[in-house]
Amino acid sequence: MPLLARRIGRAKPSAIMAVAEKAKKLKAEGRDIISFSIGVPNFLPGDHVYQAARDALAKDSGQYGSNRGTDALLDAFLQHIEALGLTGYTRANVSTGIGAKHILYNLAESLLDEGDTIVYPSPYWTTYADIADIVNAKAVPLPCPASQDYKLTPAQLDQALATHKPKVFLFNNPSNPTGMVYTREEVAALADVLVKHPDTWIITDDIYNRMLFDGLAYTNFVQARPELRDRTVFVDSLSKTYGMPGWRVGFMAGPEVVAKALTTMNSNHITNVPEVVTAAAIAALTGPQDVPVAKNAEFQAKRDQVLAALNAIPGVVCPRPQGAFYVFPDISCAFGKSHNGVKIENDVDFCNALLDAKGVACVPGSAFGEPRALRISYTCPTPQLAPGLQRFQEFFAELK
Ligand SMILES: Cc1ncc(COP(=O)(O)O)c(C=O)c1O
Repeated sequence: MPLLARRIGRAKPSAIMAVAEKAKKLKAEGRDIISFSIGVPNFLPGDHVYQAARDALAKDSGQYGSNRGTDALLDAFLQHIEALGLTGYTRANVSTGIGAKHILYNLAESLLDEGDTIVYPSPYWTTYADIADIVNAKAVPLPCPASQDYKLTPAQLDQALATHKPKVFLFNNPSNPTGMVYTREEVAALADVLVKHPDTWIITDDIYNRMLFDGLAYTNFVQARPELRDRTVFVDSLSKTYGMPGWRVGFMAGPEVVAKALTTMNSNHITNVPEVVTAAAIAALTGPQDVPVAKNAEFQAKRDQVLAALNAIPGVVCPRPQGAFYVFPDISCAFGKSHNGVKIENDVDFCNALLDAKGVACVPGSAFGEPRALRISYTCPTPQLAPGLQRFQEFFAELK
């Protein structure tokens, strides 16, 4: 039998999906499972989105569409990011894809040659490492432990850029898995460092940019230092903000040459974002924003509930997240202990024992490059949150 390409030997299935699959299997076997694992928003967009999709279906042309995205979709996105403070972009600066994951994959293909270096703060979204592996880039995660609020410091960035001379610096704000948000001052301080290293592309994966709490405002490197515009790529998505992960719509805004590269990539695989999906996406971006706004308020209240429960557990350290819908407690105080005779040596043992004993599914931090922690995604139905947190607390109380 002929061999598969070497590239596929480097490709791994998502570690997050593995936990979600195990939880699903246990549930199918009749276990009472509360899932804090997969990062889905767990709400549906407003009815205007479905109406737009139905209308589009009624007059569906059945034809291929534009590789970049329809003008109406590009304009809706441009308007959307202008409201965010990202001004001065035109259709030539943007492109679309099948979710932000697809955009990120195409960016990796477009910006990284084999052996090039990509640096990103760690903890990081698992897919960054997986995509870097597939394109055979050298990934250098920059450790940002709980003691520094899981945030990259300007000195750390400066040193990493000077030492590794990366082709790409990949940033994520607000963060998956930590939920941390960089303040305007913190973004500006990192932008000042980036200006000093002109040979590095900057990808800023900001798909949670509408999901900020405590009155914090979203801010971006380009706003802080406009001269970064010609090498900064902003990544966005409908998935989380609008409760539309399955619709698969992602966007980028950046230099024309990058938008063109992604459009060329589209022309060679997806061809276009489908017509009906495009109509729904435009409706989400330009229609009433009451659903995402209400959900954000709900997520902030849930964040408070989760933090209160975690802070009540002796030894657990949890920097206060201010965005997205994740918390990322350091649970390493449990290592070396046992639960019902099951020894817990690391985050994976912890998550397995928690799932087996209490039916609560979380993702081990090692999936995100931080084996002292685990990720809780708190978008489960509200009635499940308190019991899930209670079981989490009980599990800790029962450790010996
Ligand atoms: C930080 C981050 N970037 C990108 C994505 C991918 O989003 P999409 O559903 O648009 O592919 C996710 C999804 O979990 C994410 O957390």
